[in-house]
Amino acid sequence: MLKPLRISLLLLTCVARAEDFQGSDHPLEYDHPPISYSTAQPNDAVAAVQRKIESGDLKLEWDEKFGYLPALLKAFDVSKSSQMLVYSKSSLQRKYITPENPRSLYFNDDVYLGYIPGAPVMEVSAVDPQLGGTFYFIEQEKMRKPKFVRSADCLSCHGGQRSLGIPGHFVRSVPADSGGELITLEEVRDITQCTPLKDRWAGWFVTGKHGTQPHRGNLIGERDLARYAKEPLFKANITDLSPMLDTTKYHGKGSDIVALMVLEHQVHMHNYVARLNIEAQQMHAAYGHVRYMRPQVDAFLRYLLFTEEAPLAGAIEGNPEYVRDFASHAIKDSKGRSLRDLDCKTRLFKYPCSFLIYSTSFDAMAAPIKEVILQKLHDILTGKNSDEQFARLSTNDRKALLEILRETKPNLPDYWRKS
Ligand code: HEC
Repeated sequence: MLKPLRISLLLLTCVARAEDFQGSDHPLEYDHPPISYSTAQPNDAVAAVQRKIESGDLKLEWDEKFGYLPALLKAFDVSKSSQMLVYSKSSLQRKYITPENPRSLYFNDDVYLGYIPGAPVMEVSAVDPQLGGTFYFIEQEKMRKPKFVRSADCLSCHGGQRSLGIPGHFVRSVPADSGGELITLEEVRDITQCTPLKDRWAGWFVTGKHGTQPHRGNLIGERDLARYAKEPLFKANITDLSPMLDTTKYHGKGSDIVALMVLEHQVHMHNYVARLNIEAQQMHAAYGHVRYMRPQVDAFLRYLLFTEEAPLAGAIEGNPEYVRDFASHAIKDSKGRSLRDLDCKTRLFKYPCSFLIYSTSFDAMAAPIKEVILQKLHDILTGKNSDEQFARLSTNDRKALLEILRETKPNLPDYWRKS
């Protein structure tokens, strides 16, 4: 059951989003069978860690400075180099968030952790193969057996209005003043891989090199914004945040530009996977087939294959530790290629197909929709499908992706292996 989080709340007004999901981001009835989101028992990374705590196999060490953060990073195998800092007040614990005390976020492929210095709880979210995003808090108080509590309050923002109509994750660009309050609604945007860099990261600290490509990170208050309007590289290419805040309050270093870009790809990809899975089950129950979902499948594949990714105009250089940690989970083919190889020169990844194709959630998609996706993906990569919407994928990209997936993705249908 979902429980409310008993701390003082002041919700940020939810802004309706202009959608790129082609006619299908209406909220789905995810609290009805077969999903029954609120009453279902999640089968996610949090449930697995909770079981280990209950059984005594895992003891979460309490850290005098960071509470359960270091232990949770370890338990979930999340690297602290993935740290990103956001200072727009976008959380249930908004009162603790300011540019001097931003919220830190950490993530891997299936868990996200939020830590704000001095706040009573840590926010944790995960990805469930059937439910989509799942949301929890854990009290920052030394306990014998700490407990993750699922919270319905999180759904007021994460419940679908910004995450393709299902519980999910998102990243926003929200210009903020010196208290972290929103300056103007006009510039509030959801960020995905398709958002040009110049429209990203208002309300976020951003560390790393990005040459002459402007972005809206690190700008605090109207004065910074006005200066940025004249001087687009004001507060750009920053690698040390200590002139702006007390960085010793944070477990990791900086707010990595490459981690941000991976996050922005990933959160939306997770939402697409969950959306298609849930919608397909409902369609199948209603009509006995999923043929009406063609536009959704096309949109999904365009995102999976980065066909509308905002191009980079120059090199992006983040924290090498993050790049190393991210690459350490690579599944490589016999030529050493992997979907986690970063390009960071003209685009984010060298081989433009989401690494989340290996995720449990992708594999757990309802069979009728997964079949359609895999068939179409195969047609695109073999060149049989020369549809304009995938034209951005070069012949070399298609060939490389086909070879990598054939070697590294288990359980592909037989026709993938032939020819
Ligand atoms: C008032 C709206 C709001 C509420 C309520 C809220 N969040 Fe969020 N959350 C956001 C926003 C907005 C972001 C994206 C970061 C950003 O752009 O500031 C976010 C991001 C996150 C992230 C990072 C992953 C992602 O989606 O980008 C986690 C983890 C998270 N929230 C957990 C929670 C949990 C757990 C709860 C409930 C205890 C919760 N949130 C409640 C607004 C909210």
